[in-house]
Amino acid sequence: MHPNLTVIGHPLVQHKLTIMRKKSTSSGKFRRLAGEIAMLLAYEVTRDLPLSLEKIETPLETMDAPVLKGRELVLVSILRAGNGILDGMLRLIPAAHVGHIGLYRDPKTLVAVEYYCKLPPKIEERDVIIVDPMLATGHSAVAAIERVLERKPKSLRFVCLLAAPEGVKFVHDHFPNVPIYTAALDRALNEKKYIVPGLGDAGDRMFGTM
Ligand code: URA
Repeated sequence: MHPNLTVIGHPLVQHKLTIMRKKSTSSGKFRRLAGEIAMLLAYEVTRDLPLSLEKIETPLETMDAPVLKGRELVLVSILRAGNGILDGMLRLIPAAHVGHIGLYRDPKTLVAVEYYCKLPPKIEERDVIIVDPMLATGHSAVAAIERVLERKPKSLRFVCLLAAPEGVKFVHDHFPNVPIYTAALDRALNEKKYIVPGLGDAGDRMFGTM
């Protein structure tokens, strides 16, 4: 139904996500689970990265062994909730370079307004993954994708924990070629533009600012 959308149905991801959704889950546990799911998402989203061969010496022989090809990846976190995913992904991809884009949603127009942007150099030589836990209306995602595409990355993917169909459509109406990876595609957005059934405000739950 949504081309270029991958829902990561791995049982560990689904189980951890269910615990995150529960309103009784504490902030500390929510943060830890976000980090754990992020590692599993990182594993899936990097599945097709190209490899090259490097000559190495094992204790027994010389061999041509596979290593990731090209420059380090770039992870771009959409502040602030993206940082809860970023940390987990960095545990799996520690050499990645990191960018941050600060966006807030104008409460009247719902348009994403940028207040901060710092991206690493040489993006044109790197594969980029934008991370944000919630793909709701898609306005922040589109604003972040626009900003990164201005710098002409080698490739660009978007990773989230939860997506709403409206957000996926909005992103792909603007950028049909940007693959989206999510742990679940929920039913819809409610009148306040929260994802339902969802998990609430990801940033507030992650940082205990409810
Ligand atoms: N942002 C959140 O944190 N939660 C939602 O449900 C939607 C946007």
